[in-house]
Amino acid sequence: MNVLGIETSCDETAAAVVADGRDVLSNVVYSQAIKHAPFGGVVPELASRCHLEALPDVIERAVRESGVGWEGIDRVAVTYGPGLATSLLVGLAAAKGLAIRINRPLTAVNHIEAHIYSIFIGCKTRRIENIAPYLCLVVSGGHTCLILIEALGKYQLLGQTLDDAAGEAFDKGASLLGLGYPGGPAIETAAAGHDASGITFPRSRPRKEICRITGLNPRLCFSFSGLKTALLYHLRDNPLPDDPQYRAETVGILAASYQEAIVDALVSPCETAMERFRIPISVAGGVSLNRRLREKLADLAGRFGVPFTPAAPEFCADNAAMVAGLAGAGRGLTGEDAFGADATPDLETGEIWYNLAQEAS
Ligand code: KG4
Ligand code: ZN
Repeated sequence: MNVLGIETSCDETAAAVVADGRDVLSNVVYSQAIKHAPFGGVVPELASRCHLEALPDVIERAVRESGVGWEGIDRVAVTYGPGLATSLLVGLAAAKGLAIRINRPLTAVNHIEAHIYSIFIGCKTRRIENIAPYLCLVVSGGHTCLILIEALGKYQLLGQTLDDAAGEAFDKGASLLGLGYPGGPAIETAAAGHDASGITFPRSRPRKEICRITGLNPRLCFSFSGLKTALLYHLRDNPLPDDPQYRAETVGILAASYQEAIVDALVSPCETAMERFRIPISVAGGVSLNRRLREKLADLAGRFGVPFTPAAPEFCADNAAMVAGLAGAGRGLTGEDAFGADATPDLETGEIWYNLAQEAS
């Protein structure tokens, strides 16, 4: 079955055709990053306008490059949340219209679940039944959560960020350091070859009282707002030097130290979960492109003697192959439910988390 996937939840306009839930026939991603760069982050109104302009061509290209033609498309799939409301609306409206126009069924999928599924995209030998139960760290510009995957569609939320997402921490840090947007790749590049122990940033842990409200274990949760403030105060007390060479050196050390603090804040809850479960661990989402994060997660898995199964680099950041793949694997809303689906910005809460603890009790 060939599924045409459409993804417009944030600032990537994407379409892809995926056969049988994992063979990628085409994968087109138009990144709007350059348009949002002057603002240091994604501007929702600008994002939806760019989606409107770019989506028709992106879809056409995905179908053309797939080689199966319009008649070879068996289903249309689209993200309906979580994400930016006005961005989601563009993809959802396009997918509904398209499905009616080509007379094919529609599937509406959850963006976080698509990221979870992305570790199977383009990877012919990796099977969920061979690695489940396993942990998945989803780290992107909008989300940071640690999930226990028991099977396809059976997920337990173990922990999540209580303030900023990891990608936001990278983006805001890069902006403070004058490194531009998107911040993750900029910080990683600036940090290369520099001493990560140059400056010790706080490894803040979520406060117990906050976790009590969410019902999550604080040791499995994430917090980045203190880190961002620490960088802000550091720069206030130690302004960057004017001399270009000395300045580049200082920014490099700051970037490496800041990156290390984010990576540690991400890996520490994974380590706590690993001590408890001792199962394979995967990572997905834009921030999972970070080499230092991959290195430390691989090391963690190695120490516990379990496999590390990250998403392939081309499917880490937002893309439509993961959307088409997930729909092809049979997940998501279908039939009337898909056509009735509304753009749902806060979809993650409660929609896909299948509470294993509740079921056991
Ligand atoms: O998954 P994604 O494309 O979009 C969302 O769903 O948010 O993730 C985008 C985020 C941005 O915050 C970007 O700075 C971050 O991923 N990112 C990275 C790297 N590449 C992208 N963060 C750290 N290191 C990278 N190499
Ligand atoms: Zn995403």
